[in-house]
Amino acid sequence: MKKRIFYLAFSLLTVISINAVVSTSQEKDADEEKATNLKVLPNDISNDHLEAIMDAFNESLGVKCGFCHAPRKDGGRGLDFASDDNPKKEAARFMLKMTNEINENYFKDYKRDGMHLQVSCATCHNGQVHPKMREIK
Ligand code: HEC
Ligand code: HEC
Repeated sequence: MKKRIFYLAFSLLTVISINAVVSTSQEKDADEEKATNLKVLPNDISNDHLEAIMDAFNESLGVKCGFCHAPRKDGGRGLDFASDDNPKKEAARFMLKMTNEINENYFKDYKRDGMHLQVSCATCHNGQVHPKMREIK
């Protein structure tokens, strides 16, 4: 089971990194140190891969890093990436799990034109924080 989830996370990441558009210069040096607070992504992820995923988050939602990451508390400039103080970060973890489950349950071996395709953040968000929804009255 664990192995399976790992595989799914990994395949999602592969797709996200393929989708990742050239990174915006923002917060470039943020991940020179190893991540210490990953709860959904695999702990042995490389910094390059993590950065590609984060760039894809920015791109998919049309936001910058500070949308999900809290400012540093020590008075320094910039963001505290390991901190969970910004609730949007937990929302993004929830979304990451949901996206993994959608792929596992509905798109596991999905192929079109010989390409193995998966749902990503951009499938729904398409550059927006709020995808189109429908109100139930
Ligand atoms: C949509 C929300 C979102 C955006 C935007 C975002 N991140 Fe993240 N980031 C997360 C989440 C969620 C995690 C934790 C993933 C987990 O728990 O597996 C994370 C983790 C990280 C970590 C690892 C921190 C640690 O020590 O555990 C770094 C570094 C990071 N992000 C950098 C960035 C950078 C740089 C940007 C902008 C290019 C960015 N993030 C944009 C949601 C976001
Ligand atoms: C199946 C469609 C779908 C996918 C895939 C998806 N999201 Fe979402 N996401 C939503 C919807 C719908 C909302 C609620 C938007 C609203 O309330 O207007 C949402 C809300 C969010 C929010 C909270 C936004 C806010 O401020 O209210 C974050 C952060 C987020 N998504 C990040 C992600 C990330 C990161 C991914 C990829 C790992 C992702 N989402 C994948 C549909 C999706």
